[in-house]
Amino acid sequence: MIQKIKILKTIIIIFSLSFTFSANAQTVEEIIKGRKALFSKNYSTAKRVQALASKGEFDKAKSLMIKMSENYKTLIEYFPDNSKEGFKTEALPLIWENKKEFNDLMKKSSDDMIKLTSLIEDSEDIRATLTQMMWSNCKACHSRFRAPH
Ligand code: HEC
Repeated sequence: MIQKIKILKTIIIIFSLSFTFSANAQTVEEIIKGRKALFSKNYSTAKRVQALASKGEFDKAKSLMIKMSENYKTLIEYFPDNSKEGFKTEALPLIWENKKEFNDLMKKSSDDMIKLTSLIEDSEDIRATLTQMMWSNCKACHSRFRAPH
């Protein structure tokens, strides 16, 4: 009986170890390419949000705003210490010197997308509201933390 429990324990440990390893197996290349892909996705989603909101298709626009908000939260995890250079990254070293400021900007951008879902419909100037709550956040971060491109 004790023998069986020991074997069972060993199996559980091996399983959880291999799970941990596979969860951490993202290479630097995957991380940098992954965040670039997420930013590009947010860019095309932002353009869709603008197009839909301008046409008064608020429900569709709002669901995309929520997706963008989620993507921003995911992006916070895409800047580990080992991803400062390589693979044509445009991320500036300043990010890691001011990690809190960078993460706070990411969180603000995420929160603003949620605020936007309740503001957009009653907004008198949709374009101005989108600039203020969506596009200005891109600019605020890029001008400080992304290399000129
Ligand atoms: C809190 C910071 C931050 C915010 C907010 C932000 N970005 Fe970026 N963005 C970055 C950084 C840093 C990079 C460089 C990533 C890299 O090259 O590793 C980047 C890269 C990009 C890229 C290039 C991706 C590629 O393929 O190289 C695009 C496009 C982009 N952002 C669009 C946007 C748009 C549009 C918004 C707003 C809707 C936005 N970003 C908001 C920090 C931010």
